[in-house]
Amino acid sequence: MMDHASIDAKARDILRGNDRGGYTLPTEGLYPYQWNWDSAFAAIGFAQFDVDRAWTEIETLMSGQWPNGMVPHILFHVPDPGYFPGPDVWGTDGIGPIASSGISQPPVAATAARAIIEKAPDQGRDRLAALFPKLKAWHSWFMTWRNAGGAIFITHPWEGGRDNAPDWDAAMAAIDPVGVGEYTRRDTSHVDPSMRPTKDDYDRYIWLVQRGRRLGWDEAEMAKDMPFKVADPLTTFVLLRANRDLAAIADLLGEDRAEIDRWTAEIETGVEALRNAQGVFDSINLRSGLHTGCVTSSSFLCWYAGVDSDAMRAELAQTFESCPYPIPSQKVESEHFDAKRYWRGPTWGIVNAMIARGLSEMGLTDEASRLTRQTRTLMVENGFAEYYNPLTGAPAGGGTFTWTAAVWLAWASPTAGEA
Ligand code: GLC
Repeated sequence: MMDHASIDAKARDILRGNDRGGYTLPTEGLYPYQWNWDSAFAAIGFAQFDVDRAWTEIETLMSGQWPNGMVPHILFHVPDPGYFPGPDVWGTDGIGPIASSGISQPPVAATAARAIIEKAPDQGRDRLAALFPKLKAWHSWFMTWRNAGGAIFITHPWEGGRDNAPDWDAAMAAIDPVGVGEYTRRDTSHVDPSMRPTKDDYDRYIWLVQRGRRLGWDEAEMAKDMPFKVADPLTTFVLLRANRDLAAIADLLGEDRAEIDRWTAEIETGVEALRNAQGVFDSINLRSGLHTGCVTSSSFLCWYAGVDSDAMRAELAQTFESCPYPIPSQKVESEHFDAKRYWRGPTWGIVNAMIARGLSEMGLTDEASRLTRQTRTLMVENGFAEYYNPLTGAPAGGGTFTWTAAVWLAWASPTAGEA
């Protein structure tokens, strides 16, 4: 078995190898562009050995910000015919400064910016100051356009970062993707189709993109009648956390934090609506008003956002018992569980990193250490895959994956956090 120092070196090589000069691909082939929250994790990874490059990652991401404050989930810097749906399908020409998708992704960037400045407080204060208003405008966009009483909703499964999570099933089933037309997927030529979303899912993903395009990606128009509108624990917890981090950044820069604090308070209220009858954090299909009944890895992000829950502590204990490689993206006992299929069962390093951080900050240190150790073993034995089978640990999806290597360096490696 490789020693940890050589695994650290391998992780750094992955970040360098996926670096396209200013931004990092999630992995070559399958994802040939800059993805939003992937970049935030890449920056946290780079901060462990190249602070300057870490700042650049966030700056490049924010350079794609739209005039309305939205930061797209994909920036199409250099056209690549091997990816679908590309810029020709999204039809966002002329809206943002860089060719892009028309939806956002979980806002991790402010949390990443705080991590970078804390890593090297003397380097990059000016860069942070330049980023601050952009980050704030992005959070403001969420509070304006994705806010249901403080619970944050998504308008496309891709916006939540968990493409085919069972949370979306009911909302997706209510869509009739009429007129979507013929198209050729590219993802299934890179990766085993049993590890990817189904054709039924894909028809609806593309149908939603076509609708946004028809409405010119005008949020006011799109808000009038949204076919897909689901309040999402992951996005809500990530924004709550990022808001707290943005407020800390405001303090550091001597900026006013009052508005950010108001958002934080509003989301703290919204979080309460996400608790279902069992007390578990659960998505709500806002078209029906119903909880979706899914216990996902997102439910366990409460602590990361500074929110405790007895029901989630009990779920955590049970998950450690029932799953050899936690935290599965869908509860193992659920009828929806599928060990290989993307966000319907596999375990993801980035989500585990956030969960463990929350656990340790909230004083659940045994649980945090346990999750760290188990994820470390997973990566040592199986490399830096996109995700892993939570029952066997087998790697799945894309390989040499940026965000998995990044969270190794920043968290799972025994050398993480060492000066
Ligand atoms: C998939 C994931 C999404 C990620 C992207 C690039 O679409 O579901 O969360 O950002 O791949 O890695």
